[in-house]
Amino acid sequence: MTKKIGILTSGGDCSGLNSVIRDVVFAATQKGWDVVGIFDATDGLFSRPMRYRDLKVADFDFPYAALGGTMLGTNNTGNPHIQKKGDGTTEELTDEQLNERFKAGVQELGISALVVVGGDGSMAIVSKYCKMAGISMIGIPKTIDNDAPGTDMAIGFSTAIGVVTNALDNLTTTATSHNRIMVAEVMGRGAGHLALEAGVAGFADVILIPEVKYTYEGVVNKLKEIQKAGKRFGLVVVAEGVKTPEGKHIFAANGKTFQGVSQYFVEHLQADGFNVRANVLGHIQRAGVPVPGDRLLAARFAVRAIELIDKGENNRVVAYQDGEVTDMDLNAVLKIANTPVDPKGSLVQTAKALGIYIGEVE
Ligand code: F6P
Repeated sequence: MTKKIGILTSGGDCSGLNSVIRDVVFAATQKGWDVVGIFDATDGLFSRPMRYRDLKVADFDFPYAALGGTMLGTNNTGNPHIQKKGDGTTEELTDEQLNERFKAGVQELGISALVVVGGDGSMAIVSKYCKMAGISMIGIPKTIDNDAPGTDMAIGFSTAIGVVTNALDNLTTTATSHNRIMVAEVMGRGAGHLALEAGVAGFADVILIPEVKYTYEGVVNKLKEIQKAGKRFGLVVVAEGVKTPEGKHIFAANGKTFQGVSQYFVEHLQADGFNVRANVLGHIQRAGVPVPGDRLLAARFAVRAIELIDKGENNRVVAYQDGEVTDMDLNAVLKIANTPVDPKGSLVQTAKALGIYIGEVE
């Protein structure tokens, strides 16, 4: 019997997911295996009728792999209990029903392994269902936040750096025309990787990240310094997870995700006499044509995932460490937890040495 595997994408989307899906299909096809894509993370297995599609090399004649988003859909609500029915209505499922549906679903599809492209939280949840259903789980990390434990780089981060840097370049041209200061708010949840890397690449004057303490006076002093030096614009990059000087996070209307700290700075800087505007870059940071770096990572991760399945491995997560692809046990990954920016790390020091105000760095 031909071996068959499943693949799903879970959590917030990012660019490069379609590249990974493509590469998993291509590498599996080389082994003579079949691949089925599950829609909307695990929801495709929980809902009745199930929602999935067979994936073949020929499906990629259309260049999905070079597009952002995920052709399989995803979700980041974390609540699988409410599921869609065929007639468009929803039903509420118990834990027991979810277990049964998952098991029956993988049996009906005939898959012996599931590739989960997502965060470590999603991998941990899906791995429990897989164990109960008697199939293996292999994880591929993705996130624009780049705080995935165990890997130096996750799918989506390289493209997001490019998108944010491009946005900063664009803000700079309008800022210089108007002799203005732009405050750009960058995603990242509790991590400042994206703000830091794009901020340095985008020639920011100030970069604030959750991992480094700052003072409002430090920001003001830097902006006064550049104005005194005759610079026509100022660029402040602030990670969404930065707390206000009073120690508060600012949340989006959903009350869960961070959003709005840029507005805080604009209000205060305006009151202090600066000509300043806020820009929340938002979900465009999760989009865009995947850059070669993400496609190469996708290719390496997909091939390693297929090799692991071929060897009969279970609960392994592929990773990129010191320029090489490797893999780790899921439990070891879960023990590390998320990886923030190292305040003593080389890029923080580089930023400081360039004269960027990045907070009170030693
Ligand atoms: O984790 C990825 C991420 O894009 C974060 O950077 C951001 O805070 C969050 O997801 C936004 O989530 P949502 O799609 O629910 O608005």
